[in-house]
Amino acid sequence: MRISVIGCGYLGAVHAAAMASLGHEVVGIDVDEAKVEALRSAKAPFFEPGLPELLSSASATGRLSFSTDMADAAGATVHFLCVGTPQKRGEFRADLAYVEAAFTALLPHLRPGDVVAGKSTVPVGTAEDLAERLAGTGASLVWNPEFLREGFAVQDTLHPDRLVYGLESADGEPTVDGARARALLDEVYAEPLSEGIPLVVTDYATAQLVKVAANSFLATKISFINAMAELCEATGADVTRLADAIGYDARIGRRFLNAGLGFGGGCLPKDIRAFMARAGELGVSDALGFLKEVDSVNMRRRVRVVDLAREVCDGSIVGRRVAVLGAAFKPNSDDVRDSPALSVAAQMQLQGAHVTVTDPEAVANAAAKWPDLRFAASPLEAARDADVVLLATEWDEYRALDPDALAGVVAHKRILDGRNVLDPVRWRAAGWTYRALGRP
Ligand code: UDX
Repeated sequence: MRISVIGCGYLGAVHAAAMASLGHEVVGIDVDEAKVEALRSAKAPFFEPGLPELLSSASATGRLSFSTDMADAAGATVHFLCVGTPQKRGEFRADLAYVEAAFTALLPHLRPGDVVAGKSTVPVGTAEDLAERLAGTGASLVWNPEFLREGFAVQDTLHPDRLVYGLESADGEPTVDGARARALLDEVYAEPLSEGIPLVVTDYATAQLVKVAANSFLATKISFINAMAELCEATGADVTRLADAIGYDARIGRRFLNAGLGFGGGCLPKDIRAFMARAGELGVSDALGFLKEVDSVNMRRRVRVVDLAREVCDGSIVGRRVAVLGAAFKPNSDDVRDSPALSVAAQMQLQGAHVTVTDPEAVANAAAKWPDLRFAASPLEAARDADVVLLATEWDEYRALDPDALAGVVAHKRILDGRNVLDPVRWRAAGWTYRALGRP
């Protein structure tokens, strides 16, 4: 199958390489020259485990190319829309400017029978609008949301938990175009489907909602446990033991119940906000009123960590040296979009602390965003003479830190465990003041 992938960011670059590895002939299109140049030489333009290997093997087949020219999408049968939908400046709504630009640029290159497959996370109703604009081209639209997690993007793309197709439908049944689009996607995903991966075939509205509903559920789960952490703080209980205990109930489950600094990244925060905005436009804002609380609980955790730093520093962080371990919004990523780690680091710096940040992969992105912070290449370098150390992103190498080695470089042995991943007994035994979120 000849495929074009429009937008080569965290989603599209992985999707393009993965589709080529499945045997398709793929062209990835992006407006960013530098990104396209890197991808052409099989270099990943961002840190994603497994992507460099996938790019090299896919490029070696000769089936994967990249271009900045939308005309190169012509000739492909399925065109995947993978551009970003960030939060609009000063609003909760999603900014659809990239979707609009990509779609408009693609239109003149479509042939009758082509299928545009939307993967970007969009407000429900967008697919219907785009489908209408395809009328007269002979091309049709399918909505095929993507659920990949950064850090596991390759695995999630090649072996997803499920596939969802939103087809053009009438009276609850796919139209002729809808059925044809389905057949083409079945061919694209023949290999994952043959593994028995569940497929949900539905209409446009449901397919678009599935994505934001899934992300809202995940965000709610995290904020639920973080709200419990607030209760634990008020009562001396331990949120990690609480999560273990409730997580044994299969209906609840232990995954995504890690209390700490909360969620960030390019998806969950902006997706729940865009969902609330869309619900308002649809006249059902009450249905998502709880997401406002989910957002507030999440943001309060960042404030709480700054307060904890103040507490352990005898009431003030002004002029204190703070080492922040982690800048990425989660481990195994170099993505700092709405990163809780970086947000807390910047907040402490703005409140008068001298903050040094380290991260195995995200220092360059973090420095571009917050040039006033200091950056270090390793935890030991960041923690030199520190008055307090904050573990903000749970990279394996920070989980495995030796309290005695770190004690050798700091000014004061005070550690804040922003992700509840260190052993308090071990750190206290090594003479550290250990504080965490929701743990005594
Ligand atoms: C998310 C969804 O998981 C994915 O399905 C969707 O396609 C895109 O959005 P991602 O943004 O890559 O993926 O990150 P995810 O692994 O979901 O983590 C989001 C945030 O939640 C991170 O900041 C992480 O640190 C935090 N988190 C996660 C917690 O605070 N506690 C948890 O228990 C789990």
